[in-house]
Amino acid sequence: MLSSLSRLGFTFKRLLSLLSTPPKMAYNTEVLRCDPASISFDSASRPVISSQETSAALLRAAKLLNGKETVAFPTETVYGLGADALDAIASSKIYAAKGRPPDNPLIAHVSSHEMLQRLLPHSYAIPPVYEILMRHFWPGPLTLLFPTNHEVVPPLITANQPTVAIRMPSHPVARALIALADTAVAAPSANSSGRPSPTRAEHVLKDMNGKIALILDGGPCDVGLESTVVDGLHEDGNLRILRPGGITVEGIENALRAEMGDGETVPKVLVHRRDFRDEAMEQAPTTPGMKYRHYSPTVPVVLLRITAPPSSVQPQSVQAFVESIVSKRPHGKQMRIGLMVPSDSPLRARMTAFGGVEWVPYLLGRRSEPEVSAQRLFDGLLTLDNMGVDLIVVEAIKEEKEGLAFMNRVSKAAGETIWIDSSEV
Ligand code: TXA
Ligand code: MG
Repeated sequence: MLSSLSRLGFTFKRLLSLLSTPPKMAYNTEVLRCDPASISFDSASRPVISSQETSAALLRAAKLLNGKETVAFPTETVYGLGADALDAIASSKIYAAKGRPPDNPLIAHVSSHEMLQRLLPHSYAIPPVYEILMRHFWPGPLTLLFPTNHEVVPPLITANQPTVAIRMPSHPVARALIALADTAVAAPSANSSGRPSPTRAEHVLKDMNGKIALILDGGPCDVGLESTVVDGLHEDGNLRILRPGGITVEGIENALRAEMGDGETVPKVLVHRRDFRDEAMEQAPTTPGMKYRHYSPTVPVVLLRITAPPSSVQPQSVQAFVESIVSKRPHGKQMRIGLMVPSDSPLRARMTAFGGVEWVPYLLGRRSEPEVSAQRLFDGLLTLDNMGVDLIVVEAIKEEKEGLAFMNRVSKAAGETIWIDSSEV
């Protein structure tokens, strides 16, 4: 055991040195269209593809993956940048293209339960609570931590840890690609490290052009932000949400309640930073989005909150907030400010009533539709950034259902939080 670990440690160090070498060749990045509606799956999880164009694009992408190249592809959450998860050289190209710190582990994506088994230790029995979660939410935006099979999964994927993060995506293009490549596909979001995750092929092309071999364009992503990362490997049997995402805490709790028998203890669902803290873990990149800068466009983002502030904070009036921005504009220049607000937000009319600013609204759906806000968050940040606004202001939403993941991402994207006097709106 010890000798096999030191062997892995040695391999890991060699891989780290390999990563610090920039990629030699620039790619002539291809973009190929795929029609998700033309793909279905037979009972053995094999893809059946009716469109010639989609079939050819998927076969080309699978061939590139098998040839140790990187391919960006749509998932139901965000676009992923994929490489063969079982090949360290292939996966190292993901880190190089993204400029990703090598100690930030990757999610391995599988297309079938049989492929999942290939990544796990031979004697490992999947815990009953994971069986419930997989039955309810796979394929879909849920990532589970498993003990890793060190003989199969390179240490680069797991950042040399004992666990590997695995999910089975539901997007037909993603699942078909993994099945055709017939290997687990490591895929972080297909953006340069630190930037918002891409939800359209255009976002990927703008960021990754020349850095990767191919982008499959399957249209916009439905969920719009990343999967929920769950660690259910603790002895207390509770589930720890390391990153809120496309599957809501409420959805997980409902599934557990529906499936657990009378007299069985229903595991608690604990959300990192809301229900539990772990200082050591927070210094490690294995808590998604904690150690490194995340989700930030090139322009500053301000988060506006209109719920009661912490007792140490004095809320501001809308007028004082707008005046403080306007006072910072370069002399003689009108500021363009992106305003990401729910469509029924009273704040929008109050803010845009002030002159001296060109307001560029980007609507996040109604306040009762957190799933729409989540779906539009990264698209809004990237769209407004590309339009060349000077600043993006995002209104906070309730931290419920998909709103929990929305607020998790926007809190990390924002350099500043302003509390608005709730009596005004
Ligand atoms: O929806 C998604 O999950 C997207 C799509 C492409 O599938 N992928 C994605 O990957 O968001 P990425 O690399 O951007 O985020 C994965 C997060 C990382 O922040 C990492 O810290 C965490 O998952 N992670 C990966 N392996 C882990 C492990 N063994 N233990 C704890 N966290 C892990
Ligand atoms: Mg990411």
